[in-house]
Amino acid sequence: MKKGRRAALRAALALSAIAPVALAQGRRGRASEGAVRANSPEERRILDVLADVYRNHRYLSVPEDDGRLLRVLAESIGANHAVELGTSTGYSGLWLLLALSKTGGRLTTFEIDRERHAMARSNFERAGVAQFATAVLGDAHVEVTKLKDSIDLVFIDADKEGYLDYLRKLLPLVRAGGLVVAHNMASPPPDPAYVSAITTDPALETVFLNMHDAGVGVTLKKH
Ligand SMILES: C[S@@+](CC[C@H](N)C(=O)[O-])C[C@H]1O[C@@H](n2cnc3c(N)ncnc32)[C@H](O)[C@@H]1O
Repeated sequence: MKKGRRAALRAALALSAIAPVALAQGRRGRASEGAVRANSPEERRILDVLADVYRNHRYLSVPEDDGRLLRVLAESIGANHAVELGTSTGYSGLWLLLALSKTGGRLTTFEIDRERHAMARSNFERAGVAQFATAVLGDAHVEVTKLKDSIDLVFIDADKEGYLDYLRKLLPLVRAGGLVVAHNMASPPPDPAYVSAITTDPALETVFLNMHDAGVGVTLKKH
């Protein structure tokens, strides 16, 4: 093989080793332009921890654009209570808490993995928002059945085959005008039963966003 072609082949092989990691992490660049600006020292503190978690991530989290979307959705509906399935280390939770610190709301978030749950709690502490966050350790399919309070926004980002079960268990608690936001509606391929449930129920209106990346389903509970 010629020297040039060998080098090209080596470069292609190196890229193919890197690309799946980059893709799996959902870090394929940003569609939103511009930095997120802090309007107060409290917001600055949350944004600094978000940047730190993003830089030093060890576990999968939503891409920054999806985090920003969560913040905009929660803040624009004046969310008082947001519920998250799949806390991991708290990255998406911190985006929700950025909104909730403005609306005076609170987050209840569920994680099955003890180490990630502990990391999330520490990140919430560092960001100064621990008092607005209830981080529950355990199987969310079981734990959510203990919820009684009305919910403004649900964010589903835990086990991908569990989305329909989460929807069935939590939709009755979501207020009219509330939202169910589901991550990974493009990649990995979502459960068709979940997609069917959010697109065929006349009480729901769903749009799909950021589908160039992991994809987000935003479902409005109309009544
Ligand atoms: C993709 S990660 C969530 C990322 C997080 N939302 C973020 O953006 O920072 C999915 C998480 O769901 C958790 N998980 C999976 N099955 C679960 C279950 N049945 N109950 C609670 N958490 C679960 C995993 O341990 C993992 O941390």
